[in-house]
Amino acid sequence: MPDKQEEKKSLPFFGIPKIMPYIKQYKGMMLIMVVTGLFGSAIDLILPLYQRYAINHFVGGRTLDTLPWFIAIYVASLLITAVGNYINGYLALKLEVSINRDLRGMAFNHLQTLSFSYYNQNSVGYIHSRVMSDTSRIGGLFSWSLAESVWQGTYLFGAIIVMLAVRPGLALLVMTVLPLIIFLFSLFQAKLIKLNRQVREINSRITGNFNEGITGARTIKTLAVEELIEKDFKAETKNMRRTTVHAARYRGLFASTIGLASSLALAIVLWKGGILAAEDVGTFSLFMSYAQGMMEPVRWIIDCISDFITTQVNIERLTRLLETRSDVTDSEEIIRLYGDSFDPIRENWEDIKGDIEFEDVSFHYPDGEEMVLEHFSLKIPFGSSIAIVGETGAGKSTLVNLVCRFFEPTEGRVLIDGRDARERSQLWLHSALGYVLQTPHLFSGTLRENLLYGKPEATEEEIKKALELVSATEVVEKLEKGLDTDVGEGGSLLSTGEKQLISFARAILADPKILVLDEATSSVDTITEQKIQKAIDTIVQGRTSLMIAHRLSTVVNADCILVVKEGKIIEQGRHKELLEKKGYYHELFTRQYEDEATASVLG
Ligand SMILES: Nc1ncnc2c1ncn2[C@@H]1O[C@H](COP(=O)(O)OP(=O)(O)OP(=O)(O)O)[C@@H](O)[C@H]1O
Ligand SMILES: [Mg+2]
Repeated sequence: MPDKQEEKKSLPFFGIPKIMPYIKQYKGMMLIMVVTGLFGSAIDLILPLYQRYAINHFVGGRTLDTLPWFIAIYVASLLITAVGNYINGYLALKLEVSINRDLRGMAFNHLQTLSFSYYNQNSVGYIHSRVMSDTSRIGGLFSWSLAESVWQGTYLFGAIIVMLAVRPGLALLVMTVLPLIIFLFSLFQAKLIKLNRQVREINSRITGNFNEGITGARTIKTLAVEELIEKDFKAETKNMRRTTVHAARYRGLFASTIGLASSLALAIVLWKGGILAAEDVGTFSLFMSYAQGMMEPVRWIIDCISDFITTQVNIERLTRLLETRSDVTDSEEIIRLYGDSFDPIRENWEDIKGDIEFEDVSFHYPDGEEMVLEHFSLKIPFGSSIAIVGETGAGKSTLVNLVCRFFEPTEGRVLIDGRDARERSQLWLHSALGYVLQTPHLFSGTLRENLLYGKPEATEEEIKKALELVSATEVVEKLEKGLDTDVGEGGSLLSTGEKQLISFARAILADPKILVLDEATSSVDTITEQKIQKAIDTIVQGRTSLMIAHRLSTVVNADCILVVKEGKIIEQGRHKELLEKKGYYHELFTRQYEDEATASVLG
């Protein structure tokens, strides 16, 4: 659980300088909010002074000469406070939503630039909560908490100064309550922070349970473990209920302590200031107002301080995400020349032809120690179709991940058209690539929208042709709304085989120079596979293609078959040559042939 460790490591103030660069454009707005807060609160603060003046001058009708002026100033002050309050609240809300939007946008864009290995190391839930809840807490801190602490701080500080100026003795007496109150409030606050943290932790576990329950619903059913899952879930929700009620009890106690504290301060004023009432009713009422009004600000200030301290963890986590550099990045020079993924300078891109070369490449995954490839060299000239076969975990996907620059070699180079892949921007290379994955992914939306991701300006004719080419026309025709059918989240309304066909069509639509098929047809039936196989033979014309396949019958036509074992190419050549060699490929092929023959007899 990375969250827990990080919360323990965090220190109170260290996050502010880190987050400032991301929200510096709002400094001006924050300043205006602080100034209106100071102003509004100062006027709020002097209202009891008016009260004192009114009691001492107008009560008993001593003199009413200044009454019209008094009313005018009083009303004006009320108006100014109201306007100040409005501007303050408006700016706080604007700041909150703007900061949230900016931080989320930055986090979202940054996530697009991170490499595959970041997603291997961080769970979706963890990333989701960085983007949603951390940003929202930070937004809240620099808006409402800042506004509130200025407003309430000014009020408290001012009330103390005014009381000290008017009656120092009585002021000091009233203030004796403060240390006790601050101590009590801090205790409550510390306990509340702890309870809230527990509630959050339980909540994230419940969300996780929910997620697993939904995504793993089928597995749960097939394993018949509904009862076990329900028991776990019930235990967590029970725990949640208990902790939430516990926290609510503390909050209630907190609120009533504030009431008690105000009464205590009032009692002191009544007790020691009673005599004052006879000689100076105005001052007496002034003290009554301040003594009573002082407790809310104390509570707010403690609240804001604790908010400030706890939000440091959120700042730390979010800035760490924003500062995470991708394992695969374009250099400054490359970005200047060719643009980045969000601002490409396409006019500087030359056409990519499609020659690929591995030059003495060694590679291990950033989170793995073992070398997956060692001193691997291979030339794949433009236009050739290469098949990669081998056992599970042999390193087939790793090879194509390196061609696509999803990972970079630990040593050695991958050359595209004779130039190091790092000499081009990632987007440039990726836009010349078509990649159909072992686990196809579609976006929510219609089939047509999904296909258009391949080529946004594609015509209806082109879409049809691409679908035909990969034998996906039937899939579309079968659906009631055809291309306008919604595919559901991640394409969940389609079967895996159908998803593969659609993502195949999507890749073809883009007309890529380099086509990578990683088990692209592993989930379609044999008849469809045969159809696709024919299509592949046409599709590979005029491009370089890399095809990973378990079913060896699909690779017989490849220009060159690479047989991978433990990260090394142990055999390479055409199907016939390899069979004649009677080596590992021959063994794999005959084993699979026998298995399939047995299966068809049994089936
Ligand atoms: N992201 C990763 N981090 C660390 N190690 C990895 C990662 N991906 C793969 N590996 C390791 O690298 C080796 C080669 O994996 P690779 O995915 O290239 O195999 P493959 O030949 O494509 O297998 P399959 O046929 O099952 O798809 C395996 O031992 C695997 O455990
Ligand atoms: Mg693989």
